[in-house]
Amino acid sequence: MTSPEWLESWTADDGGARVRTLFAASFGDDGGEVGTWSAPGRVNLIGEHTDYNAGLALPVALPHRTWVALRPRTDDVVRLASAQAPGQTWETRLADVAPGATTGWGAYVAGVAWALREAGHDVPGFDAVVDSCVPFGAGLSSSAALECAVAVALDAVAGLGLADDDAGRAALAGACVRAENEIAGAPTGGMDQAASLRCTAGHALLLDCRPGLTPLESATPVPFDLTAAGLTLLVVDTRAEHALVDGQYARRRASCERAAEVLGVASLRDVAPEDLDDALARLDAEPDAEVLRARVRHVVSEIDRTARFADLVRRGRITEVGPLMNDSHASLRDDYEVSARELDLVVDTALAAGALGARMTGGGFGGSAIALVRSADVDGVVAAVDGAFTEAGLTAPGFLLAPPSEPAR
Ligand code: GLA
Repeated sequence: MTSPEWLESWTADDGGARVRTLFAASFGDDGGEVGTWSAPGRVNLIGEHTDYNAGLALPVALPHRTWVALRPRTDDVVRLASAQAPGQTWETRLADVAPGATTGWGAYVAGVAWALREAGHDVPGFDAVVDSCVPFGAGLSSSAALECAVAVALDAVAGLGLADDDAGRAALAGACVRAENEIAGAPTGGMDQAASLRCTAGHALLLDCRPGLTPLESATPVPFDLTAAGLTLLVVDTRAEHALVDGQYARRRASCERAAEVLGVASLRDVAPEDLDDALARLDAEPDAEVLRARVRHVVSEIDRTARFADLVRRGRITEVGPLMNDSHASLRDDYEVSARELDLVVDTALAAGALGARMTGGGFGGSAIALVRSADVDGVVAAVDGAFTEAGLTAPGFLLAPPSEPAR
């Protein structure tokens, strides 16, 4: 039997050194100043598929980060290289970046420069390289980590000063969302970029995605002291690849928008939990009533669970959140239909091995699951999950520890 595979995060020195070395090898050292920046991936504790329904979510930043070394140019050319695509460079002119016109991974980078320019900021072309210890395609926001690392880099070289306070970070997050939605073409909701730019160490971030809120109203840090509670947040990358550009995510989003339209509300956030039965009855006449009812049931109950989870954490009752996590998973599996066999296996196995709560995290259809585990039980839970995957003939999962970590810097 092989031992479980741990996916370690890099130290700041290590991450910075990697991209500096790659930068010199890719673009040489012409004497111009090369800076390094980084941004974290995230796990969401609860509040899944709620952000694009104007709801609540509760992410924490991972210690795993994406690193960027970047040097501004005097023209509007963007040249990129990545440790994940050795020997290749990606190139464009910023003037050519436009919705539908920019393809490949560079869209996530050039898209941020495009969005900042669209917002009226004077952003130059640049040479940049990236490297990352955020597992790719694992539902841990590797895309947002890339966008947000680039955002703080461009903020610095263009002297915008947005990264200096939370309101400015909210604006940078908005630019990253536009990059992802309009240039990379993934219709995601914005939780990931907010998490990567606005989470703080030792805290979860209670995001309220209702449109029109001020930065202060839209994100509240909630102290999340796992160590004091004797707990560990364990992340399991199932290695069942997840993708948000394949249409399933967009279909879920469209169903929610249609249900809101039928119900005559701006978003499903406006359906109060006590009005849920009434709302479900009003969907009965729709041709796909069963599906719409299930999607609405998930979103409305998930927003309520997120509020209750945050409330328990605020009152120092972290050890009591487990059942809310388990209910969230069941709702995502049965009503929202975004789980996968591998995710269900992690959840069931972790709970049987003593986890307080477990659920899939992120968009779903593969990706990662989280388990809240008493620190003394971590080895047992990890061994049980690893063994269950072997027994089921699945690719071995990867394990990460997720102490709530620092935002982009
Ligand atoms: C992905 C998206 C987010 C959010 C989650 C589901 O991570 O990028 O905007 O919708 O899925 O909660």
